Amino acid sequence: MRAFQIDETDGLRCEVVEAPTPPRGDGEVLVSVQWSGINYKDAMVAEAKSRVRRVSRLIGGVDAAGVVVASDDPDLAPGTAVAVHGGVLGVARDGGFADYVTAPRAWISPLPAGLSPHDAMAMGTAGLAAMASVLALEHRGALDGEVLVTGASGGVGSIALSLLAARGHSPVASTGSPSAAAWLRTRGATRVIGRDDVADRPDRVLATPQWAGAIDCVGGATLASILRSLRYGAAVAASGLVAGPELATTVYPFITRNVALLGIDVVEAPPAVRERLWRELATTLATIDVAALVERTIGLADLPATLDELRAGTVRGRVLVDPAAH
Ligand SMILES: NC(=O)c1ccc[n+]([C@@H]2O[C@H](COP(=O)([O-])OP(=O)(O)OC[C@H]3O[C@@H](n4cnc5c(N)ncnc54)[C@H](OP(=O)(O)O)[C@@H]3O)[C@@H](O)[C@H]2O)c1
Repeated sequence: MRAFQIDETDGLRCEVVEAPTPPRGDGEVLVSVQWSGINYKDAMVAEAKSRVRRVSRLIGGVDAAGVVVASDDPDLAPGTAVAVHGGVLGVARDGGFADYVTAPRAWISPLPAGLSPHDAMAMGTAGLAAMASVLALEHRGALDGEVLVTGASGGVGSIALSLLAARGHSPVASTGSPSAAAWLRTRGATRVIGRDDVADRPDRVLATPQWAGAIDCVGGATLASILRSLRYGAAVAASGLVAGPELATTVYPFITRNVALLGIDVVEAPPAVRERLWRELATTLATIDVAALVERTIGLADLPATLDELRAGTVRGRVLVDPAAH
């Protein structure tokens, strides 16, 4: 089969190779990949001296969708449409940038009726994180007013905008890409602000309370600004670190405004949680123009250049990978 391999055994090489169809271990499922998608983590895995990749050589791709070829589980008969993601897929074992992938049963989610492998990867891990963030804010009751979405032109951010708008909320997009403003409005943003406009009063511990809730995949100073500018009782769902892993804050937002910092993870989420997220996505997507979330479709050979673009923060929305495209 064709596969996109990252090999740092002797200098870094990222290239399309011919590889054997992956063997299926005990309890594992073999999936024929129809679509994969690019996530920020894929760009981190394909870097020299990556802090995320745990082996020197592997096939990349932290998620994929397609149909079951072989499994021991009667619920996963050959031909069942599934998504594959999470655990150490594409990080410490071969991932979805290939014609076939194998994975433990716990990383496989049967797709709900009506959700095709293409649309599942238009969401991908980014969409699951966006959905989990929306549900966390809804559970907290933190959506009665403007909801800030940071990193808005990226995968998690753009999907979060669409999901919030589709579920009747009022998302505000924060972006470092002014040229994306019109596109972000078509994705559901009621207004668009710059990266530096998340909070005012930089000289004060607390900023003017503005946001009923926030979905942040940026981290670093952005997350600290969000905490300073949340309204009383509001919450931020934090899933990412594109601006860095550090968080310099004070306890004041928590003890004087009763705000909450809600951690979001979908990579280690148990199967029941994943399947609920896919079901919620399928329901909400029925009212969304999914095709508009996909910036482009590429083949395996286009991955190195596209991963560079993702690192540079210039990709808008989702990029899908068709392993069969040459
Ligand atoms: N916790 C989980 O389970 C989970 C799941 C999926 C993803 N994630 C994480 O979520 C984050 C986003 O993933 P993604 O796939 O959406 O990435 P992405 O498509 O690359 O989007 C990230 C966006 O962040 C903004 N950005 C980029 N560099 C920045 C910087 N230095 N400072 C501030 N903003 C910057 C850009 O948007 P603008 O130009 O619009 O500002 C960019 O489009 C990553 O850290 C990823 O690992 C976590």
